[in-house]
Amino acid sequence: MKPVNVGICGLGTVGGGTFNTLTQNAQNIARRAGRDIVIAQVATRHPNPNVDTGSVAVTADVNDVINNPTIDIVVELIGGYTIAKDVVLGAIAQGKHVVTANKALIAVHGDEIFAAAEAKGVSVMYEAAVAGGIPIIKALREGLAANRIQWLAGIINGTGNFILTEMRDKGRDFADVLAEAQALGYAEADPTFDVEGIDAAHKLTILSSIAYGIPLQFERCYTEGISRITPQDVEFAEELGYRIKHLGISRQTADGIDLRVHPTMIPVARPIAKVDGVLNAVMVNGDAVGDTLYVGAGAGAGPTASAVVADIVDLARSIDAPASARVSHLAFNQIEDVQVMAMEDVETSYYLRIQALDQAGVLASVASILSERGINIEAIIQKEPKANDEYAQIILLTHRIVERTMNEAILAIEGLVSTVGSVTRIRVEHLNG
Ligand code: HSE
Repeated sequence: MKPVNVGICGLGTVGGGTFNTLTQNAQNIARRAGRDIVIAQVATRHPNPNVDTGSVAVTADVNDVINNPTIDIVVELIGGYTIAKDVVLGAIAQGKHVVTANKALIAVHGDEIFAAAEAKGVSVMYEAAVAGGIPIIKALREGLAANRIQWLAGIINGTGNFILTEMRDKGRDFADVLAEAQALGYAEADPTFDVEGIDAAHKLTILSSIAYGIPLQFERCYTEGISRITPQDVEFAEELGYRIKHLGISRQTADGIDLRVHPTMIPVARPIAKVDGVLNAVMVNGDAVGDTLYVGAGAGAGPTASAVVADIVDLARSIDAPASARVSHLAFNQIEDVQVMAMEDVETSYYLRIQALDQAGVLASVASILSERGINIEAIIQKEPKANDEYAQIILLTHRIVERTMNEAILAIEGLVSTVGSVTRIRVEHLNG
């Protein structure tokens, strides 16, 4: 059978990994695809010292790849929204299939890109955009197709998980661990995307669209990062039998889709609580299958290349088939515009840490603010002031309550003369059905 020709745009961490995987595993990949997959051209402005491009044609201009008539599949591994978007739309306009690892591009411009691809009868594949090497897109789009997905929750930013793990296990400093994640090629070009939850929100947006068959709505995703998590909260969480993970959570509710990324306390006993370092994990609950869990490396050259190459193989297998034989871009042939809930309407449990003067009646005042609003306390710990500190710490776990009510309670607690500074709030999820 005629080989499939691939053009790779971008030869950084993921581009280099893809080049090397396609080259090193060429024979095995050809056996799977039923035909050879040939790297016909590479576009890069910066040579990658880990890649020997050998006799493959290298250009500095992505347009050479887009306009190369021998290329069947353009692999966009540049990242960002600008050149990458031009490459993807340009390749589609030339009738080429596209494989991308670009979660930001898909989450923000995916609806436009998929519409363009459908009009041209080509496919845009994006397995590598979410959770690196874990085939979670394939699982949701195909493996779980029988189910009504009820909720999903994932550790979907490797850098953030690496930082939280190192802070907890080794007491390391936030900035120091972030610098290591950057050196290892895990972090985004702009690492605030990792630590402020934007990268996770891109990925959650994509997962939710293919889980529920809804348009991509990144702008409606509530996003909170890990930069305000203190070693103290990590320690108190453990004392209460919980672990802090940065989760993307989405749920199908009667009031719409709950879509949020934030630090979350989860029971230590849940398997996902033990997923550490740069590993990612996604739990998916479907009405027929129940709970499922997918774990693996979420970033880095090899794991991300594994997902990119899987998409290339998928396309190579189906390239001669009509477009109608391929799985729809967002898994559903009919997309329904379901409302994403406002964060204030979401219901969850809470961990609160309150700094207070060490005097009689503080706890009673806090408890009365909560009880007046129907907030039920599950557990409470009071820590005496440490040496050289005049403030006590009150740590509370609450039962589920709507976020709007908790916002009001926190404002009232912060207004007490006996409390100091802001209340730390971490949402708690039990992930048990
Ligand atoms: N910066 C991302 C992460 C890379 O740390 O998970 C993979 O998308």
